[in-house]
Amino acid sequence: MVGDLSIKPTVICIFGASGDLAQRKIIPAIYDLFMNDLLPDPFCIIGLARTSLGDDGFRQQLRSGVEKFSRSGIHKEEDWDKFASAVTYSKLDYQDSTIYKSLLEQLDQGWQKSATKIFYLATPPTLFEPIVKQLGQSRILHGNDQYRIVIEKPFGRDLESAQELNKILADVFDESQTYRIDHYLGKETVQNILAFRFANAMWEPIWNRSYINHVQITVAEQVGVGRRGGYYENAGALRDMIQNHLLQLMCLVAMEPPTSFNAEEIRNKKVDVLHAIRPITTEDVAKVAVRAQYVSGVVDGKHVPGYLEEENVAADSRTETFAAIKFYIDNWRWQGVPFYLRTGKCMGARASEISLQFRPVPHHPFSEKVIQPNRLAIQIAPEEGIMLRTQAKEPGPVMKIKPVEMHYSYNEVFQVSSPEAYETLLLDIMRGDPGLFMRSDQVEMAWTVLGSILETWQNDRENPLPSYVAGEWGPQEAENLITADGREWLKPACLECEIRKEGSDGND
Ligand code: BG6
Repeated sequence: MVGDLSIKPTVICIFGASGDLAQRKIIPAIYDLFMNDLLPDPFCIIGLARTSLGDDGFRQQLRSGVEKFSRSGIHKEEDWDKFASAVTYSKLDYQDSTIYKSLLEQLDQGWQKSATKIFYLATPPTLFEPIVKQLGQSRILHGNDQYRIVIEKPFGRDLESAQELNKILADVFDESQTYRIDHYLGKETVQNILAFRFANAMWEPIWNRSYINHVQITVAEQVGVGRRGGYYENAGALRDMIQNHLLQLMCLVAMEPPTSFNAEEIRNKKVDVLHAIRPITTEDVAKVAVRAQYVSGVVDGKHVPGYLEEENVAADSRTETFAAIKFYIDNWRWQGVPFYLRTGKCMGARASEISLQFRPVPHHPFSEKVIQPNRLAIQIAPEEGIMLRTQAKEPGPVMKIKPVEMHYSYNEVFQVSSPEAYETLLLDIMRGDPGLFMRSDQVEMAWTVLGSILETWQNDRENPLPSYVAGEWGPQEAENLITADGREWLKPACLECEIRKEGSDGND
């Protein structure tokens, strides 16, 4: 393969290589890196899984994933052939120590000492522990940066299980060799939060309780659980999305300015936010957290089944597909500023967005009774950009105030498609940069923050579970959560702008 000379030769062993994640995300991302000449030379992939597949069968399977999910696609056979020649497959019985022994020997002796050897665990979480323990047969792994371990989420299902998993990992690998994935951190728009906040002097003076009224973080998906019912039944929206993606977004918005872009410095600043989150007592759970499940409805013009009718979902399941939580951060910057987080499947639109709603003007001399406060929307997906809402005078003989949006879109400004999160993350793993990965204390603290909610929801088998119609924006209870504070959920900026545009088109 054509190589990026700054990265050492690398071999990546993917456990669970015949699964969905490898097919949809990991391999297409590696292929895109290959097509952009970003892979080291030499580079090789060893796929490992229980399924019986030869090298060719495995390559064939990967090819269809690359065709469907990579950005580059396959345009020339010779590109694919070159890539495929670096891929091999071995059937693995996860408990069979002899297979690990020969794999470890192969890595140790078949590759230069300085080459990077990555173990990527893309398996169901129940296999994390046996695999790590088996790798632990080799005494040379611990503290040896040539060996790295990558763990997908979910990282535990509560504080205790996450601590246990961290302990198992720490017996075999040093923290600096451990890469816990939260793919949101690899998204361009998420990384841009740091650039936007800390490469512009104008935000810092107003990025605090004196100017910001509240913050909303919405990650709305239109998809349901589809074929992932088996996994989702044990997760739910709180574990699947809030514990990781949404809390990480909140940390990036709320953290103090870092003194450098050193990985530990950034992670320290983020973990400080988690520590400052006001603990939610069991008595408070009902006041600050809402969960719900979708029932059948219409999403994007198509009828979709309710959660209970999905494959591998128990008929009496109480797993939440929507969660909304109000947090406070007890520090000088954010005292008294609520952070409202919500996420759900089968919602009205796909939109991931962070909105900072500024305080209203203290006094205004205009005739309008209400003037909308300024709003800054950081759009993560599907729109990628930043929208700032201000007020302007509408052209005409009278002073009439109208909201207008200043908008910058990634597509328009940079005119290149952003790399997929997995491309960024894989490259960082090869380079040995852990900045975009979850440190053990971050994961544990995120579980601590949610502990009382997890417990209360788990123990509550009696109160009826709120529901929402697929294609809508969550249950009435979530509306009540925010209207009780005299606020409302903000429509994602992309939709709000569309609505305003349609309105003004109609007026023309
Ligand atoms: C994953 C969750 O971590 O993130 C999925 O397990 C969810 O349930 C997905 O659909 C959303 O990611 P993205 O990048 O599509 O917003």
